[in-house]
Amino acid sequence: MRLHVADHPLVTHKLSVLRNRDTPAVTFRALVEELVTLLAYEATRNVHVTPVDIQTPVAATTGVTLADPKPLVVPILRAGLGMLEGMVKLVPSAEVGFLGMVRNEETLQPTTYAERLPEDLSNRQCFVLDPMLATGGSLSAAIEFLFQRGAVDVTAICILAAPEGIAAVERLTEGRDVTLVLGAVDDHLNEHGYIVPGLGDAGDRLYGLV
Ligand code: PRP
Ligand code: URA
Repeated sequence: MRLHVADHPLVTHKLSVLRNRDTPAVTFRALVEELVTLLAYEATRNVHVTPVDIQTPVAATTGVTLADPKPLVVPILRAGLGMLEGMVKLVPSAEVGFLGMVRNEETLQPTTYAERLPEDLSNRQCFVLDPMLATGGSLSAAIEFLFQRGAVDVTAICILAAPEGIAAVERLTEGRDVTLVLGAVDDHLNEHGYIVPGLGDAGDRLYGLV
């Protein structure tokens, strides 16, 4: 597994506002989108491209274009949906599939309640979006699901992670081509499986209590 943790004052600044419990939902949503765009720049470093001939006003030259099949972006509902717009702004030709997962707040085990993805992900690069990597149960299950469908590599973009979650993803996806791109790594998980200091419940802060 490859790990990239953002080391940039703009990311830390935006994260600090996000963490503040007094930040209203409208600002929270805008910041999540901005943070994804910053992280997506790093996450797409190894995106597949193919050469194209182009003619500038001055000369003929060669450039690149995103290769086929186009990357697949997979937000994990609900909270991952808040990251989608920021990602597709940067990669507008990407296709989008959806995974709905919810963690049981007692057992901390994830269940999948929705799936809308291509049956065959052969040769596809997949980019999973989920703001929070806590125990790692949800993300590991999502990544495994994509590899079962034939994905060649999976890059997950998370805004915050706990060390326990990173270790779990590494263990549970061993032997797979997985990259984690993170805004920050926090201190630990508390007894309720929440990231400390974290930002609270990302889904609730984006969309309200359910
Ligand atoms: C949150 C978060 C991740 C998961 C992380 O979603 O968005 O999907 O918890 O926890 P884990 O690493 O311990 O699995 P949640 O289940 O609260 O659903 P929501 O997005 O609908 O709020
Ligand atoms: N899910 C969240 O939304 N926040 C956490 O801290 C852990 C899981």
